[in-house]
Amino acid sequence: MALVPMSCLLAEARKGGYAIGAFNANNMEIIQGILAAAEELQAPVILQASQGAIKYAGLDYIAAMVKCASEQVSVPVALHLDHGTSFEQAMQCIRAGFSSVMFDGSKFGFEENIARTLAVVGVAKSVGVSVEAELGKIGGTEDDISVSAAQAMMTVPEEAQEFVRRTGIDALAVAIGTAHGPYKGEPRLDFDRLEKIRGLVDVPLVLHGASGVPEEAIEKAISLGICKINIDTDLRQAFTAAIKQVLAAKPDEIDPRKLLGPAREALKEIAKQKIQLFGSAGRA
Ligand code: G3H
Ligand code: 13P
Ligand code: ZN
Repeated sequence: MALVPMSCLLAEARKGGYAIGAFNANNMEIIQGILAAAEELQAPVILQASQGAIKYAGLDYIAAMVKCASEQVSVPVALHLDHGTSFEQAMQCIRAGFSSVMFDGSKFGFEENIARTLAVVGVAKSVGVSVEAELGKIGGTEDDISVSAAQAMMTVPEEAQEFVRRTGIDALAVAIGTAHGPYKGEPRLDFDRLEKIRGLVDVPLVLHGASGVPEEAIEKAISLGICKINIDTDLRQAFTAAIKQVLAAKPDEIDPRKLLGPAREALKEIAKQKIQLFGSAGRA
């Protein structure tokens, strides 16, 4: 089916008490693997492209591949810009047919984040495109930061309330202790903070850096209002491990299809596990 705005999917998820998987897409096999998982489980799904993915594959290629793939499945699909950091990038994605954009102004101060987010919302809303924004800073697992510095980066509930009220965004990415990339130890999520944010903010909340977060923590986060869960690293690991496995068994293999086909299958299995965990299976 045709692409749908992300806000429709998240509104249903909020009502139903589940979360939609938002999976990062960089090439054809990844897109096909994610959508095959969603179709098999009859789950609504979000495919998202980072600025790095857009640079790698090309904006028009990403948009065309996702549109083509989504027309071949019966489940609703949103195409979302992940961590867009400029007004120009958001506009280019809207023009290319994305149904949703994230404006990540987390590196700016509170007022500047609001002003820049508002500029994107002003255009996106008028053309039916959803907007996610970020308040607090979701870092990387490689960032060497102390516990107190990590606390200082987290979303302040009262600020989240004001941010949402003044920007009119459709979804808010919260910093509650997760980070992008593979975790060294077990991530500790600040559920009290999440609960406070949920009590003050009415829009769907988004959990970034969800790869490697234990299943019980994911379930608890969903019960406290998380409606969109971003997964990239777990997919990358499965995809690459499958390629390595083929090469270990057949070091002389040169047919890309013999490497990328198994990688697509392995990635599909991980996407299915996540969809089941998030409770979005059968919700299409
Ligand atoms: O949020 C980060 C995502 O994993 C995208 O990563 O910028 O390397 O494409 P990337
Ligand atoms: P992970 O790579 O840690 O799963 O994070 C994905 C993400 O948050 C994309 O925005
Ligand atoms: Zn992220």
